[in-house]
Amino acid sequence: MNKAAPKRQESDFIQSASVTAMMRALLAEENDLTKNPDYLAKHFVSEPWRQYLDQPVQSKSALQKRVPGGIYYHLVRTKKMDNAFVSWAKKYNECQIVILGAGLDSRGLRFAQEYPNAKIYEYDLKGMLDYKIDIINSNESLAKLNGNIDYMPINFHEETLIDSMITNHIDRSKNTLVIWEGVSYFLEEQVVKSTLSDLHKFFKSKLRVIFDYAYKDYVDGDLNSYGAKELAHELEKIGEPHIFGLNPDDVPDFLDGLGYAVNNNSPSFLLEKEFFLKNDQIQHKLPAFHGIVDCDKK
Ligand SMILES: C[S@@+](CC[C@H](N)C(=O)[O-])C[C@H]1O[C@@H](n2cnc3c(N)ncnc32)[C@H](O)[C@@H]1O
Repeated sequence: MNKAAPKRQESDFIQSASVTAMMRALLAEENDLTKNPDYLAKHFVSEPWRQYLDQPVQSKSALQKRVPGGIYYHLVRTKKMDNAFVSWAKKYNECQIVILGAGLDSRGLRFAQEYPNAKIYEYDLKGMLDYKIDIINSNESLAKLNGNIDYMPINFHEETLIDSMITNHIDRSKNTLVIWEGVSYFLEEQVVKSTLSDLHKFFKSKLRVIFDYAYKDYVDGDLNSYGAKELAHELEKIGEPHIFGLNPDDVPDFLDGLGYAVNNNSPSFLLEKEFFLKNDQIQHKLPAFHGIVDCDKK
């Protein structure tokens, strides 16, 4: 059954974005395979979550109990999508990178200087963008990094992406990478579909989309996998339930129907192998109900 998303106002501040930034910041100081490359995340963590940064060791252990594997899932997401950004910007001289539901992710800031050939667009609710821009403008070192990024307010449930892209004169002829991190499962199924099909219709050159997803079985209530019941409980508390899901085996057909071919589809066990295999052992478990897919417009 298709589930309805909580109604969002354009001024809303979404707590899960701040939790994400906090989890990235917590691992940013590590010096092994758990290091999160988002060294700017700490600047964006909002008040209720900031206290976690004061005592990182205790916080990591508390978070592992509260949302098992969550900090490591945010780490692999960051790395996977950073890799997509860098490979796209290196491959195409003049290109675009559209980050949908960018939230408090600092990828644009971290890469804008190094890859000035990539025009970056960050889409999110106006409230989220206002919060982020205020922080950037009040910090000289962040403000210096803030080149080549346009911030585009949108409420995916109220407006279509294609209308916004037309109104804002986004170049449909440039090779474009779309990063959609940590968002698909908060949206209604028809919004996920219409967003992917808007992107497909709009862009006339090469289009690559990378996004992460939650498994349909978990969204539909199977909470038996590692980390599932704890996360579902936490999301319920902050009023941000996961409502859209795809089982990994269904991803290729789902995307094929929308005009995309899968390059890479990594369910959690493959992400564990890719990022946490050392001495023949998986060093850190990931929540066993998430995957990341990377696809091209056919
Ligand atoms: C978990 S956060 C992830 C943020 C960011 N991509 C990251 O990985 O740090 C989910 C993001 O989706 C955005 N979002 C959720 N529902 C939305 C909607 N209806 N319209 C626009 N953005 C939305 C939220 O504002 C939030 O920034």
